[in-house]
Amino acid sequence: MGFATDAIHIGQEPEPATGAIVAPIFQTSTYVQDALGKDKGYDYARTAHPNRRALERCVARLEGGQAAYVFTSGMAAIDAMFRLLRPGDHALISRAVYGGVYRLTTQFLCQFGMEFTFVDTSDLDCVRKSLRANTRMIYVETPTNPTMIISDIAGIAGIANERNLTVTVDNTFLSPYLQRPIELGAHIVVHSMTKYLNGHSDATGGAVILTRPADAEKIYFLQRSTGAGLAPMDCFLVSRGIKTLAVRMAQHDANGMAIARYLENHPKVKCVNYPGLPSHPQHDLARKQQRGFGAMLSFDVGTLESARRLLNHVKLCSLAESLGGVETLISHPAMMTHASMPPEVRQQIGITDGLVRLSVGIEDAEDLIADLEAALEKV
Ligand SMILES: Cc1ncc(COP(=O)(O)O)c(C=O)c1O
Repeated sequence: MGFATDAIHIGQEPEPATGAIVAPIFQTSTYVQDALGKDKGYDYARTAHPNRRALERCVARLEGGQAAYVFTSGMAAIDAMFRLLRPGDHALISRAVYGGVYRLTTQFLCQFGMEFTFVDTSDLDCVRKSLRANTRMIYVETPTNPTMIISDIAGIAGIANERNLTVTVDNTFLSPYLQRPIELGAHIVVHSMTKYLNGHSDATGGAVILTRPADAEKIYFLQRSTGAGLAPMDCFLVSRGIKTLAVRMAQHDANGMAIARYLENHPKVKCVNYPGLPSHPQHDLARKQQRGFGAMLSFDVGTLESARRLLNHVKLCSLAESLGGVETLISHPAMMTHASMPPEVRQQIGITDGLVRLSVGIEDAEDLIADLEAALEKV
């Protein structure tokens, strides 16, 4: 079946007891057993529940994985995924990674003997040279948040396979509709489902999608042991959001391109980071490995003061953290999403004080342009 059909039907079979076309929310902590040792497939909601199973089946199919496990947030999913590493193991991570991943690895996971190095994963030579004897994983965010740098997933998988390393890709920014990392050779995909998969800014969630049974077993063990599995109501909301993923992503993609083109021609904008523009240094790679360019972009207005004026004068675009919802969000990475990164690291990876990030929603593009035009006049 096609992507849109799978998004609507996988895990969403009519409920057997009543025929309800939408699965009920199983808002229960426990399940009554028929007899000692005999249950109906569920015993306790931390371990598993029907809404979680349904969502996991759907997400696994959309990413082309063997199994998926969903967690209370993207960070909970990423934390579980990194626990596949053992003390003494080393991982390479994209240099311009989401700030929360930087914080988790450098301030917490490193205390348990895991080692992390942040490298430019868009440069395959740099990836190769940064490998150590104890490297076990290459963790790639592509495009990066918020600098929109693209890494060559197939190229990295090629390097990893020579040494039996795991490649994990954070596919949050594009969703499986626009990029399928497993088809390009990745072994694991992670998501903040809070973003495009849910798409309506009304739940947080995360997913780990696996291709190898041994990894899947470990992640499921962690999910039921630590209790960070996603709750029924949130699974229901994400499942509902996923049903419209294909149409939303097509519209996000069109709006992203329209806004990027508008900003690129604006005299007050110094540069626009959007892989769909021919001016993007990896435009060709993006065309090759993605099905579209999405709706995340960042642009530089020069100074913190200019960024502040822009952010304080938009009306339709909402000043907020997060991304991937139907409504357009605008943010200041240096003071918001990436505040936990030391300023010198931010500078190194191009997160300047004048950089503004847009998560372009699916409103009418002309209304968004009018809003940005009015706010840029105040800059
Ligand atoms: C690319 C990326 N990965 C992971 C996360 C973490 O997800 P969550 O906020 O759902 O924990 C985010 C959050 O913004 C993100 O942008």
